[in-house]
Amino acid sequence: MKKRILSGIQPSGEGIFTLGNYIGAIRNWDIMQEEYECAYFIADLHSLTVRQDPATLKKQSLSAFALLLACGIDPEKSLLFIQSHVESHAELAWILNCYSQIGELSRMTQFKDKSSQHADNINAGLFTYPALMAADILLYQADLVPVGADQKQHLEFTRDVATRFNNLYGETFKIPDAYIPKAGAKVMSLQEPAKKMSKSDENKNATVLLLDDPAVIMNKFKRAVTDSEKEIVFRKGKDGINNLMTIYGVLADKTNEEIEKEFAGKGYGDFKTAVGETVADALAPVRAEYARLIADKAYLEKQILEGAQKARAISWKTLRKARKRVGLLELPRS
Ligand code: TYM
Repeated sequence: MKKRILSGIQPSGEGIFTLGNYIGAIRNWDIMQEEYECAYFIADLHSLTVRQDPATLKKQSLSAFALLLACGIDPEKSLLFIQSHVESHAELAWILNCYSQIGELSRMTQFKDKSSQHADNINAGLFTYPALMAADILLYQADLVPVGADQKQHLEFTRDVATRFNNLYGETFKIPDAYIPKAGAKVMSLQEPAKKMSKSDENKNATVLLLDDPAVIMNKFKRAVTDSEKEIVFRKGKDGINNLMTIYGVLADKTNEEIEKEFAGKGYGDFKTAVGETVADALAPVRAEYARLIADKAYLEKQILEGAQKARAISWKTLRKARKRVGLLELPRS
């Protein structure tokens, strides 16, 4: 039996996905398809925790779906769907809300960060977000969840709530493990390299988007903030260079030692150009494939529908079990 993988990504934000999303998550999702039984989804319900423009969200969900396909997620190999098309997610999230404690939810750093970023809209959804994420994962009985380092705490919460439920009612959910890549689990901002690269950054030069054109990518890397030294070495305190080395290392498949040797005696300018070119080259086929797919609405709609139907069937099995466990009356058969 192949191990089961599940992961999700939010469709919201300028330009949809960042280089951080790609290196920390999506790239690994693609690689894992060969070895595992994978399910990936667009987490549109999660995006509602922050105020969205409805027309934009709709458009971005479709774009995000196309972009995952363009990144190599293959519906012949993996289940790919949109979260809100599968009602089980919201229903299991409600059940798990009733097994989540205010105290543990209050400790989530993402809740604290987002509450300070959106002080005028600290809604209940933002607070109970981890229960929805736990539902996403547990419905598919996932063994492994490939995510960036920022999601580690939510994975620990998922394990805790699943264990609590299993202890109360007997084995219902598989307890999942986080799969966090060794390199690239936290790609940093190109402008403030002590901070995570993020979609919501106001400084456009801080974040590389998957659909940026090559000239824009080169420009962002040329302007990347580094330090006042000269040496290209991976060392504590050299956040900017460390980040560029990580990005280059993952995409060019090189170790830090190899990179240090390659750029010995060369300047930061040469290195930034090499990193920019490597990123632009890696993303060129993704952009081209995205342009092709987004023009083919009929194909996208067919994949979205098939994904939803399969996900509904799989997730219902777990939801049904959980409903029985907690004592919800089954609908009589006609
Ligand atoms: P989201 O949409 O913020 O990010 C999607 C994935 O990208 C990773 N990531 C990064 N990795 C490295 N460096 C960065 N700078 C960087 N920025 C983002 C994230 O860790 C994530 O893996 N709550 C999730 C979506 C979600 C989910 C799930 C994930 C909903 N349900 C169930 C896994 C399983 C989120 O908002 O990710």
